Amino acid sequence: MPVRVLVTRRFPDIAARLLKEAKLDVTEWQEERLMTVAELVTGARKHNAVLCTLTERIDKEFLQQCRHLQIISQFGVGYDNINVAEATALGIPVGNTPGVLTDATADLAFTLMLSVARKTFHLHKSILKGEWKYFQPTRDLGLELKGKTLGIFGMGRIGVEMALRCKGAYGMNVVYHNAKRNEANEALTGARYVTFAELLTTSDVISVHSVLNSETRGIFNKAAFYWMKPTAIFINTARGAIHNESDLTEALRSKKIWGAGLDVTNPEPMLPGNPLLSMENVAVLPHVGSGTLEARTEMARLAATNVIEFYRSGKVPHCVNPEVLRSRS
Ligand code: DGY
Repeated sequence: MPVRVLVTRRFPDIAARLLKEAKLDVTEWQEERLMTVAELVTGARKHNAVLCTLTERIDKEFLQQCRHLQIISQFGVGYDNINVAEATALGIPVGNTPGVLTDATADLAFTLMLSVARKTFHLHKSILKGEWKYFQPTRDLGLELKGKTLGIFGMGRIGVEMALRCKGAYGMNVVYHNAKRNEANEALTGARYVTFAELLTTSDVISVHSVLNSETRGIFNKAAFYWMKPTAIFINTARGAIHNESDLTEALRSKKIWGAGLDVTNPEPMLPGNPLLSMENVAVLPHVGSGTLEARTEMARLAATNVIEFYRSGKVPHCVNPEVLRSRS
């Protein structure tokens, strides 16, 4: 019997091509909508492996119904949609795609920072509304970034790249906060480790690059925004649930902070009537941090390779629960 792989949506063609070249039997979800939970369970039960992404809920209930799965391969570096502890308990390896979207995501965080500082989304909208009448020296003024302090929340691969961009472009001082100090990344960036409280009070720009877990969920809340500078810019390209959206909206409305740039929201998609979308100092994008041809192609390649290698050699090149594989050998 050939190995059957369920691919939960259209990923860049290279994913299905590599899987088919490896003689795996591929079913790709073709509809222009997400699979429902029931469809995902029904589909997965007919397959040995699942190649999925961040909007598929691979939770305890799903895993209990699909205990037969041999591997789950996530198209993405983040995997907070997957209950990894449960997958591990069931002996199912989980793969992901780190490294290949680092530059694309850091570029987008940098883009959002500049967009907010110079109100570009708002200014573009004002042209569309016919509001560009004449040169107005006192209107819609932005902020400069040279020599300011960047606070990285989550100094991993993407945090490092954001720090390097901000240092290179504007000589920004960099501070960071992580659950644990990362001395290697301090050496790469010259960043100084600070407490969360110091990150909030000293940063001119805070850029979120951490994983979503029980410690980071909702950590940017009313209390956090309270301590930030009134000129501070908040950027989140990681996961929307790391900030509390109504607290952020209120902090912007009451001018507790200057602005926000979000590539991730809570919930996603953000609805068109969301008040954040009509605020001058806010830039929102539809979760496109990894959205370059290069990054998405490599993500597809890695996600497929994780499955192919598992069946070829028993190894998963990028495995988030490698203990499952060790216990088999
Ligand atoms: C990831 O990889 O985790 C991104 O959020 C999706 O590209």
